[in-house]
Amino acid sequence: MSNKQRILVTGASGRTGGLVVDRLLARPDDFTVRVLVRMQDQAQAWEQRGVEAALGDVRDTATSWADSALRDVDIVISTMGGAPFRANNLWRVDYEGTQRLIAAAKVAGVDHYVFVSTMGLRRHRTLRHPLSVLFYPKLLAEDVVRRSGLDYTIIRPGGLVENADSGMRNTREQVADACIAALDRPEVRNHTWEMSADRRSESGADPIFGVAIDPDNP
Ligand SMILES: NC(=O)c1ccc[n+]([C@@H]2O[C@H](COP(=O)([O-])OP(=O)(O)OC[C@H]3O[C@@H](n4cnc5c(N)ncnc54)[C@H](OP(=O)(O)O)[C@@H]3O)[C@@H](O)[C@H]2O)c1
Repeated sequence: MSNKQRILVTGASGRTGGLVVDRLLARPDDFTVRVLVRMQDQAQAWEQRGVEAALGDVRDTATSWADSALRDVDIVISTMGGAPFRANNLWRVDYEGTQRLIAAAKVAGVDHYVFVSTMGLRRHRTLRHPLSVLFYPKLLAEDVVRRSGLDYTIIRPGGLVENADSGMRNTREQVADACIAALDRPEVRNHTWEMSADRRSESGADPIFGVAIDPDNP
């Protein structure tokens, strides 16, 4: 009997998601990879690489796409992200899309939900900051993940950059590495991690995940 775990990656056509899939495909004995994509041609391209592809747009309220995408899935790695001020916006993708995926993940009995979020969310809970419109959907999506009853790992990177790694920033490679490490390290489950370069450099911080935030004040 196979001990391979089936992993659904959302946002696989994106920059971080693509790096996550590459890392999973490097471990064929451990994982079967499925991606959630919006376009038929994307699905075909993934299938040519030996990756299962589920079609779906997380804004779609008819959630049969989610049931199909989550069928027989053990682990979800969510790297999707909406665009500010567009039809494909953060509220509809990051918040409402996460609600739909989590609902289907609960039905499917998913074991672990890895969610890529973003740094600096806490102050946006009051909605007083001018940029809160950009951050609030991720904050609510995190709450959905934390309250789902599923095991989760929430990863909050800083601003994503190509090469530099300092201050409130990360490379996408670091985020992808953290997503994979979350699968191998049970002790990082059920925590929300702030992994920007400055957080990882703090005394006692985890070198990959940085610092786990106070669960009573996320
Ligand atoms: N950019 C930053 O500085 C920053 C900072 C902190 C955290 N983050 C977070 O880090 C993660 C990765 O960011 P990134 O910049 O690497 O991603 P990205 O390249 O912008 O990719 C976004 C992915 O989300 C998918 N997506 C968007 N709308 C969707 C929908 N309606 N249904 C299904 N999938 C949808 C896209 O699919 P399509 O190809 O179909 O559009 C794409 O695969 C995101 O969660 C982001 O919020 C980003």
